[in-house]
Amino acid sequence: MQQRINPVKALSGDIEVSADKSISHRSAMFAALAQSESRIKNYLLAEDTLSTCRCMEQLGVKIVRDNNNFIINSPGIEGLMEPAAVLDCGNSGTSMRLMSGLLAGRSFNSILSGDESLSNRPMRRIIEPLTSMGAHIWGRENNSKPPLAIQGSKLRGGKFNMSVASAQVKSALLLAGLQADNPTVIIEPHRSRDHSERMLQDMGAELRIEDNQITLIPGKSLSVCDWSVPGDISSAAFFLVAATIVPDSELRIRQVGINPTRTGIIQALTKMGANIKIENNTIIAGEPVADLIIKSAQLKGITVNKEMIPEMIDEIPVLAVAMAMSQGESVVQGANELRVKETDRIQAISTELRKMGVDITELEDGFVVQGNPEGLKAAQVFSYGDHRIAMSLAVAALVADKTTEILSSEAVNISFPEFWGIMESIIA
Ligand code: S3P
Repeated sequence: MQQRINPVKALSGDIEVSADKSISHRSAMFAALAQSESRIKNYLLAEDTLSTCRCMEQLGVKIVRDNNNFIINSPGIEGLMEPAAVLDCGNSGTSMRLMSGLLAGRSFNSILSGDESLSNRPMRRIIEPLTSMGAHIWGRENNSKPPLAIQGSKLRGGKFNMSVASAQVKSALLLAGLQADNPTVIIEPHRSRDHSERMLQDMGAELRIEDNQITLIPGKSLSVCDWSVPGDISSAAFFLVAATIVPDSELRIRQVGINPTRTGIIQALTKMGANIKIENNTIIAGEPVADLIIKSAQLKGITVNKEMIPEMIDEIPVLAVAMAMSQGESVVQGANELRVKETDRIQAISTELRKMGVDITELEDGFVVQGNPEGLKAAQVFSYGDHRIAMSLAVAALVADKTTEILSSEAVNISFPEFWGIMESIIA
C-alpha cells in the first residue's frame, strides 16, 4: 500500500490514540500465569498484540473478545499445553522474547518463529541468560536468531548484570525467574520500561526494586488480573511532534500512559521548546495516565545521549523529524539499539529524511541533524515495513512543500491501525 500526504496549514482536535502495545502484550501473557478469569479493558487490536493472543491460545488459554475488552481464561501456568504447531510471533520482538522466558520453564517443547524482520533480530541476548538459568534453547546462526526451539526445563535463578537496558530481556528473565527455584537478580545499566514489574507486583509476585536492581523471589501464587490499558505514549509521540511542528496547531490527546520510564519524548521536546501541558492526571491499573495538550512551537536543537535513550527508544525516529524542523544542530548518540529494531532505524530514518531535503548524517550509534525550520521537500519515501518509520515519515510529510508518497504504509497496522484515520480527522 502507498499513502499520499499533503502538506497542512494547521492541526486541531481532541483525540485518543491506540492502547499501549507493551502493556497489552504483557496483559495477555501475564493473565495466563494465573489459574482463573482475568479481564483486560482496551486491549490493543493491532497485528503485534494479536500475534501474542494467537500464541497464548495455542498454549490452551481461552480469550473471549468483546471488541477491545477481553476475558482471559487460563488453566494457569502449570496447565499450559504443548502447542501443536509453531508459535508465529509475526513482526513482534516483544512476543518472541517474553514468550521465550515463559516457555523455557514449562514441561513441554515449543518453536517460535517470525516474519522476515523478526527472523533477523538478535536473540542471543535472551538465549544466553536463559541458558544460564538451565533453559534449553536453540536458534539459527549459532543460537543467535529465530526461529527458536525451546525444550522446557527446570530453571534456577541467578544474578544478571545486563549490558544493554532492555525491557524485553528483563521481562523474559522475570518470566523465567517466576518458574525458578531460587531468586533472580537483574541489574540494568539504565532503567528500561517497568510495566512487567508493576503488573507482576499487582498480581502478587514478590519483587524488590532498588534503583536499577530487581530481585524476584519466586513461589508466590499469582492472582487474577483486572487491567485497563492506557493510551500508548509511543503512538501519541507522532501527534506530539506533528502538532508542535505544524504552525497554528492545538491538540488534546486523552488518557495517555505517562509512566516515567516512557516519558523521555516529552522531556526532550520540552527541552527543545515544545509547548506540552499535562492535565487530568490519574492512575489506571497502577500506571500514571494523563491528557497531553500540545500547541505549535518553534524548536531548537538538542543533544540526546545514552542515558536518555531507554526512556524514548521507540520515539527517536519521530524525534529526528522534530530535529529536522528545529533551529540549529541536534545530535542523538548512544542509540546503537536502534540498529536492531524492526529495521535499522538509524539508517532508515536518515536515508528517508535525506530524500526530503534534511541535512542528516548517520553516526554508528545515532545521527546529527542540521535543522531547518523552513520545512521539508516532498519525496517518495519508504517505510522499510517498519511501523514507526512509516508514521514518522507521515509527520514529516505534513511540513513538506508538496505531496509526499509513503511506500509500504500498511506497516502502521503493527501498532496503530487507526493512525491514518486520526491523522485525517485533525487536519483543520
Ligand atoms: C518493549 C521494549 C523495547 C521497545 C519495544 C517494546 C517492551 O525494546 O523498543 O518496542 O514492550 O518491552 P527493547 O527491550 O529491546 O529495548
